[in-house]
Amino acid sequence: MKRIAVFASGNGSNYEAIATACANHNLDAEVVLLVVDKPGAYVLQRAEKFGTPVLAFSPKDYAFKSDYETIIADRMDELKVDLVCLAGYMRIIGDVLLSRYGGRIINIHPSLLPAFRGAHAVEQAVEYGVKVYGITIHWVDATLDGGKIIAQRAFEYDGNDSEEVHRLGQIIEHQLYIETINKLI
Ligand code: GRF
Repeated sequence: MKRIAVFASGNGSNYEAIATACANHNLDAEVVLLVVDKPGAYVLQRAEKFGTPVLAFSPKDYAFKSDYETIIADRMDELKVDLVCLAGYMRIIGDVLLSRYGGRIINIHPSLLPAFRGAHAVEQAVEYGVKVYGITIHWVDATLDGGKIIAQRAFEYDGNDSEEVHRLGQIIEHQLYIETINKLI
């Protein structure tokens, strides 16, 4: 059984989808750690329900990214983490995590990359008048949403309601993340 760490910053619906799939044996894996960089994030309430161990921290308490990334990597070593799944983690992964866990870190992004990188992908795509939206899962490297693509799924939407695009996209995200993790492990 593979050992997964999920990183999140906010809502955590993708964390919950992964934890649920593990609990229901739809994934031959266990979420052994949830890493959260926002101490009040809603994902922490979800983690309580599943009993997932949590590493929560505030980046502003550390002088350098390498300081808190070392703590994260040490904890992941102890827990023998096989795969890191970023799920709404709103930070660039730094040198420490890339050197120790590179090639084992994946991210989910709400656009058909390489279009619309960054934190406002859906809003930018709606603004552009996009008609075919999508979700991308990719390997994480030092660039913003730039690593090699593992999986993508598209859907059509003709309108200007970005909330609706988020809603449609998340339904796909929760399925595609589980399918992709299954293939990888
Ligand atoms: C998702 O839309 C994901 O694509 C992006 O951040 C969002 C996280 O949603 N990277 P949630 O916190 O898992 O609900």
